[in-house]
Amino acid sequence: MNDNRPVGVFDSGLGGLTVLKEICKLLPNENLIYLGDTARVPYGSKSRETIIRYAKNNIKFLSSHNVKMVVVACNTASAYALPELLENECPVIGVVEGGVEAALKYGRCKWLRVGVIGTEATINSMAYTNELYKVRPGCKVITKACPLFVPLVEEGWVDKDITKMVAEEYLASFRGEVDCLILGCTHYPMLKGVISKTVGKQVRLIDSAKQTANLVKMFLLKHGLIKSQDSSKGEIKFFVTDSPKRSLEVSNRMLSGINLKYSGLVDIGP
Ligand code: DGL
Repeated sequence: MNDNRPVGVFDSGLGGLTVLKEICKLLPNENLIYLGDTARVPYGSKSRETIIRYAKNNIKFLSSHNVKMVVVACNTASAYALPELLENECPVIGVVEGGVEAALKYGRCKWLRVGVIGTEATINSMAYTNELYKVRPGCKVITKACPLFVPLVEEGWVDKDITKMVAEEYLASFRGEVDCLILGCTHYPMLKGVISKTVGKQVRLIDSAKQTANLVKMFLLKHGLIKSQDSSKGEIKFFVTDSPKRSLEVSNRMLSGINLKYSGLVDIGP
């Protein structure tokens, strides 16, 4: 097995780098291409139709780089667009499945109380709630949209007082009410410290990134698409649709130690 084609990863902005990082750790030899649609972030306040159009544009761009599969490292696009994207020729996986699997792995009890936070679109789609009820019908699910978290992360403000105030406003009602909290937006793991302090240490934070990386590995192995693990270290190409300077600063901070090769500013359509 030695399929050198890259794995494509996209998000509306830089949040999907939390997923890319886990893929990199698990599959260091794979070549990766990341697209951050920084010109059009946030997706979370857009309509379903717009989110689907953006997601299709992103896949088209990644497919033009001959990717062997695409990881939709964006909960909003996964929640709304995944069924449409699966019709694509290129194999696609999202992040909702990984998030639900990770939450249920942690909590075996039938009456598990699960909190879910995400963008407005992700919460309105009910993607997490439906998936959780399907697998664990007795569980209690409490959801909350936290739209201001995304610009705070894109700005790199992960530990400012304003971020703590916003977290308190959004999350105080979860205290004592949930056993685990699904971070249903790939930007949110960057705020783990603040979120955990706000909801309390006893609430387990669930991040879909690791589980999604496991799903990528399983998919590549199952379909004979893996790049040989004896081969050289993979290369990570990094594309954005706006403002490369700030994106590179934030991404270097997020990825600490993982080298991205800035590969260009792209225009992927209206
Ligand atoms: N990081 C994305 C998500 O996981 C989207 C944030 C946004 O664009 O609103 O939902």
